[in-house]
Amino acid sequence: MGICLSARIKAESPWHTGTNMKSISTGGTDLSSSTSNSKASSVAPPTPRSEGEILHSSNVKSYSLAELRAATRNFRPDSVLGEGGFGSVFKGWIDENTSAAAKPGTGMVIAVKRLNQEGFQGHREWLAEVNYLGQLYHPNLVRLMGYCLEDEHRLLVYEFMPRGSLENHLFRRGSYFQPLSWSLRLKVALGAAKGLAFLHSSEAKVIYRDFKTSNILLDSNYNAKLSDFGLAKDGPTGDKSHVSTRVMGTHGYAAPEYLATGHLTAKSDVYSFGVVLLEMLSGRRAIDKNRPLGEHNLVEWAKPYLANKRKVFRVLDNRLEGQYKIEEAHKATTLALRCLSMNIKFRPNMEDVVVALEQLQAPKGNENGQSKSGNSNNQRVRRHSADDARSTNRPVSYPRPSASPLYA
Ligand SMILES: Nc1ncnc2c1ncn2[C@@H]1O[C@H](COP(=O)(O)OP(=O)(O)O)[C@@H](O)[C@H]1O
Ligand SMILES: [Mg+2]
Repeated sequence: MGICLSARIKAESPWHTGTNMKSISTGGTDLSSSTSNSKASSVAPPTPRSEGEILHSSNVKSYSLAELRAATRNFRPDSVLGEGGFGSVFKGWIDENTSAAAKPGTGMVIAVKRLNQEGFQGHREWLAEVNYLGQLYHPNLVRLMGYCLEDEHRLLVYEFMPRGSLENHLFRRGSYFQPLSWSLRLKVALGAAKGLAFLHSSEAKVIYRDFKTSNILLDSNYNAKLSDFGLAKDGPTGDKSHVSTRVMGTHGYAAPEYLATGHLTAKSDVYSFGVVLLEMLSGRRAIDKNRPLGEHNLVEWAKPYLANKRKVFRVLDNRLEGQYKIEEAHKATTLALRCLSMNIKFRPNMEDVVVALEQLQAPKGNENGQSKSGNSNNQRVRRHSADDARSTNRPVSYPRPSASPLYA
């Protein structure tokens, strides 16, 4: 969810209690018309239409604030799992069978997101999360277990994702965060791609709109799940090509045509996927003002290298050296480049991306485990990347990228 609440709320129509969701959601898709075709994923009919319907029909539990206080040891600061622009996420515990709040340390671990107190304006995004995650089930979407709506308080209860966000694994330095290996990066990319492909499928027809590393969470086996559905939108219906919205998202990830026109399509998510794939391959942030001039914007800096087979290694994360074959690296960077096409017609759809990434996966049994530095397999490439001169231990402070209204 985003940081700039008041601005974001101005961006789109107000969403009051009892308002028909479809009447304000541009080009809304009636999910009730779709049926699940797989056990692993499903969209539960019928689509809720008002806030009351969303809250009552969703398969998630309604918690009282007191229950969530008890489950999180009164939102203890030392149990913060992460922070978004919108609020903090705390570790908590519930009873596995009854889903009732449990004594801390017992039962099942959960993650509780508490919107900032002044965030009554965030109600709309909170409701969007309950609406989408209350209906959409897929192995690559985080599970919403419950919510709390009490006075001005807005909370969400999710399944706990033990390895936290991809952002932390890619960009945090420290003993807990060892660099992700090449094969784990490909595994995470595939999981996230499957999550997006499901959202774009005719079953769900949802545009995610805030695809970035902090919204991709990892379970203990590095299975990726998309979280944070505050900006998600119903995709276009009928013969419409796009939905028109005020431009919202996170700098560095939003597609250029969306920035310029406000026309949102599934291909806007594909562009953001390309940015994240590039972040994974390069180990660099989409926007990084700590880089030398000319390197602040990852896509602008990397594109000329990606297009050149011999120079592509300048982009690749030097912490990956020795772990990939030239052809693999080239296929991955070419995929990123296609996703980042300026012309949306040249961007693949997420199903194509899934297929391409499946072909790149490590053979079974070889995908886990962190990178082993010094892997000197001769077939594997060891090259110097543009990052070699940088000390990995140098403390660098990064502004966390948060969603907000964007201006071209
Ligand atoms: N289910 C979860 N399990 C573990 N960590 C989580 C979970 N949900 C969120 N987090 C952590 O909190 C951060 C912010 O969560 P997010 O839902 O993106 O909040 P916001 O809407 O404020 O952006 C994530 O980047 C991640 O580090
Ligand atoms: Mg977020």
